[in-house]
Amino acid sequence: MTRVISLFLLCSLSAYVASDQIVVGALQKIFPYAAAAKVKTLTTNVNKQTTIAKAKTAVKNWVPKNWKAANAKPDAKNQLSKQAYAQNKALTFIDYRYSLKKYINYLYNQAISTKYLTKAEANNMKTMFWAADTKANNNYTVTCQTFMMEAMQKIKKTPTIQDSVTDLTGKFAKANAKDYANLQWTL
Ligand SMILES: *[C@@H]1O[C@H](CO)[C@@H](O)[C@H](O)[C@H]1NC(C)=O
Repeated sequence: MTRVISLFLLCSLSAYVASDQIVVGALQKIFPYAAAAKVKTLTTNVNKQTTIAKAKTAVKNWVPKNWKAANAKPDAKNQLSKQAYAQNKALTFIDYRYSLKKYINYLYNQAISTKYLTKAEANNMKTMFWAADTKANNNYTVTCQTFMMEAMQKIKKTPTIQDSVTDLTGKFAKANAKDYANLQWTL
């Protein structure tokens, strides 16, 4: 029995990776007039997709029937009460998420290859970043603030992790202008 339990624990631990997934709360903000259950279905479906194109198709297939619940009372002053506007926000949100993964992988790989961080430290930072992202409902501004505060506590080196990230971000932005622009996504 103990053995079965430890095996189960081991499996669940190895299955647990820092989640870079889209959270329901983020899509709820983009589709404030949709039924909560429908947004949840969309979130699960988009997270399952393996390419940007497929994730965008999942959004486009979902929008016509689900973006607004039958009993919803849209506020005409809210841009998100317009179907095309809301859909476009969701599509650019997907771009932001893919660019974010690319950016974080870049920081991770550079931190290791320049020997600024050990692999273990870099893994730890990556896990911390994605945990902050989930906690912040995928809000990039809030995530970066939380992450940097925690990272400064954990990594005490010269240059500081903040300076190091700033430096690498500049390099990433130069080489990946489109991705860097996608990170500036706003509602
Ligand atoms: C992220 O959070 C900040 C601070 O609460 C807020 O001003 C901003 O509008 C949020 N961004 C999005 C895209 O929700």
